[in-house]
Amino acid sequence: MKILVTGGAGFIGSNFVYYLLQNSEDDVVCVDALTYAGNLKTLDNALNHPRFKFYKADITDKATMEKIFADEKFDVVVNFAAESHVDRSIVNPTIFLTTNIIGTQILMDLSLKFNVKRYHQVSTDEVYGDLPLERKDLFFTENTPLHTSSPYSSSKAGADLLVQAYYRTYGLPMTISRCSNNYGPYHFPEKLIPLMIKNALENKKLPVYGKGENVRDWLHVSDHCKAIDLIIRKGRIGEVYNVGGHNERSNIEVVKAILKHLGKSEDLITYVEDRKGHDLRYAIDPTKIQSELGWKHTFQFEDGLKQTIEWYLDNQEWVESVTSGEYQHYYEQRYGK
Ligand code: NAD
Ligand code: DAU
Repeated sequence: MKILVTGGAGFIGSNFVYYLLQNSEDDVVCVDALTYAGNLKTLDNALNHPRFKFYKADITDKATMEKIFADEKFDVVVNFAAESHVDRSIVNPTIFLTTNIIGTQILMDLSLKFNVKRYHQVSTDEVYGDLPLERKDLFFTENTPLHTSSPYSSSKAGADLLVQAYYRTYGLPMTISRCSNNYGPYHFPEKLIPLMIKNALENKKLPVYGKGENVRDWLHVSDHCKAIDLIIRKGRIGEVYNVGGHNERSNIEVVKAILKHLGKSEDLITYVEDRKGHDLRYAIDPTKIQSELGWKHTFQFEDGLKQTIEWYLDNQEWVESVTSGEYQHYYEQRYGK
């Protein structure tokens, strides 16, 4: 098969590229616009692989994307490309709507035009909104109504609705996965875990929003990649699959675990103004993907976190290269000097 991976120079997309090159015989083509979140250095170990090809292109640029689809004749399209950071969406929603919704529409139009056998949309548990902190018995299932909080999650929910409309109206052979928070190698240091590792290593303050009580359901990125791989090969067309490993932790627990692992003082923690509209708790019910496709998560959070911290310690050069440009400006705007 020939698989298009959009957003393959970002965090999860790059892990998926490596997953496919290691675990399949498929040809892998990556399209990425190389925004602030995408970095070719992330694909260093794929660029010379005989089954890998890279195009720098924007998924909202229809003419360029059409030429790529015509030349490559993909069997499968997996759409990771997105603006993905909630805090940035609160400051500038426009690019989120353009990339996440219009970009999805263009990829689906081209998938129909060039007879792609499966279009897979990588979505998020954030489309379900949040759950109360005190109701530990509640989980998101595939039937939980969409109920979004941020411009980011609204743009992802808008895209999901459009994907489902393309299935019903045009018969697009599609699937959607909605995953909980990922962590692991190549995670851009604007997100909680890599940001806290980076700051702790530099003895900088660790900015925790509000009281640090918000809960996220953490999944190692390799478990997410395995789930997407199963869905594109065996998932039923037209279906949504939730992906999560029942690893709920409050933010403050995560931050303290990072400091403990690095042997740093909790005095580095600073409580800062809360995120606007901050979702309280995410928690996925993964029963459907487990029972239908036999997916299971493999990483326990503590082991995965330890491995991730070690990856960052071993890959300081990568961290420096991805944070040398626009990141500095973003960091000062967001957190002050
Ligand atoms: P990321 O921000 O690390 O990577 C996004 C990639 O998309 C970057 O390489 C960027 O250059 C590229 N991109 C952005 N706009 C583009 C455009 N217009 N054309 C082509 N490429 C473009 O994001 P991520 O964390 O790897 O997330 C990937 C996908 O998974 C997103 O769709 C996100 O919504 C979803 N998701 C993420 C998580 C998570 O915890 N990170 C969890 C669930 C779902
Ligand atoms: O649930 C899946 C989603 O997870 C994905 O769809 C998003 O693309 C991804 O960014 C992530 O969203 P979150 O908003 O949950 O991730 P983030 O790492 O930004 O924040 C995790 C939690 O940590 C959240 O409660 C906010 C908090 N936080 C974050 C940052 C960046 C802080 O307390 N301090 C910070 O500096």
